[in-house]
Parts: sequence; C-alpha cells; structure tokens
Amino acid sequence: MKTMKLVAIVFLLMFVGVGSAAAMSHGPTAEKGKALFSDVKLGTSGQSCSSCHPDGRGMAKAAVKTDLAETINTCIVKALKGTALDTKSVELQSMVLYIQSLGKM
Ligand code: HEC
Repeated sequence: MKTMKLVAIVFLLMFVGVGSAAAMSHGPTAEKGKALFSDVKLGTSGQSCSSCHPDGRGMAKAAVKTDLAETINTCIVKALKGTALDTKSVELQSMVLYIQSLGKM
C-alpha cells in the first residue's frame, strides 16, 4: 500500500511538471496578453492599454470582433505611439486571447 502511494505521488509530480512546462511554452496565452495589456513598453507614450481600458473594461464587445488583431494594432500605433505588431506574433495573438477571454466573463 505504501508503495502504491509513493507511485501515485511520483505520477502526480510528473503531471505537475508537464503542466508547468506547458505554461512556459512559447505559444500565445491569455496570461501573456494580460501582462502585455499593462506593459508600457508596447508604445512610447508612457501609457499602456490599461491606462485607457482599465482591467480591460469595455472590451467585452470587442471580443467578438473578427478584426480584433487590427483594432489592437490601431490602438498600439495611435494611442500608444508604438509600432504595430505582426498579427501572427505571440504578443498580438496573446492579447487577442486575453481580450476574447474578457468577452466570456
Ligand atoms: C490613449 C487611450 C488609449 C490607449 C492607451 C489604448 N486605447 Fe484602445 N481605444 C481607445 C479609444 C478612444 C477607443 C475607441 C472607443 C472605444 O471603443 O472605447 C479604443 C478602442 C479599442 C478597442 C475596440 C473596442 C470596441 O468595442 O470596439 C480595442 C479592442 C482596444 N481599444 C484595445 C486596446 C489595446 C489592446 C490597447 C493597448 C495596446 C489599447 N487599446 C490602448 C483608447 C485607447
């Protein structure tokens, strides 16, 4: 019985390990998007997305937009005085995922 418990614990630890490895993967995630949302480095105006959209407020409607990536880029360029991101980049895709996640709340 003791060995069974040990084996179970080892398996559990392995799953947790795999899980955190996946979290650190290079793919886009809503978490990364959330972090970028308050990152002033996206632009040069000293502001971040959350300066004008605190906690993503008002983004729920935008979540269903099919041109969400372009809308984000418009705000990066016009509002943050930054450089538009590649719509296929992990950064922009992550922000899309984050804003879409706000629409589900
Ligand atoms: C200087 C203020 C400002 C900043 C900074 C800003 N925005 Fe905006 N944003 C606006 C305004 C104004 C609008 C148009 C009015 C509205 O829909 O709220 C808008 C609209 C949007 C929309 C469309 C909303 C809708 O319902 O269609 C999205 C999505 C958006 N912004 C995302 C972002 C993201 C992502 C960032 C950061 C990269 C950002 N914004 C930074 C002011 C700003």
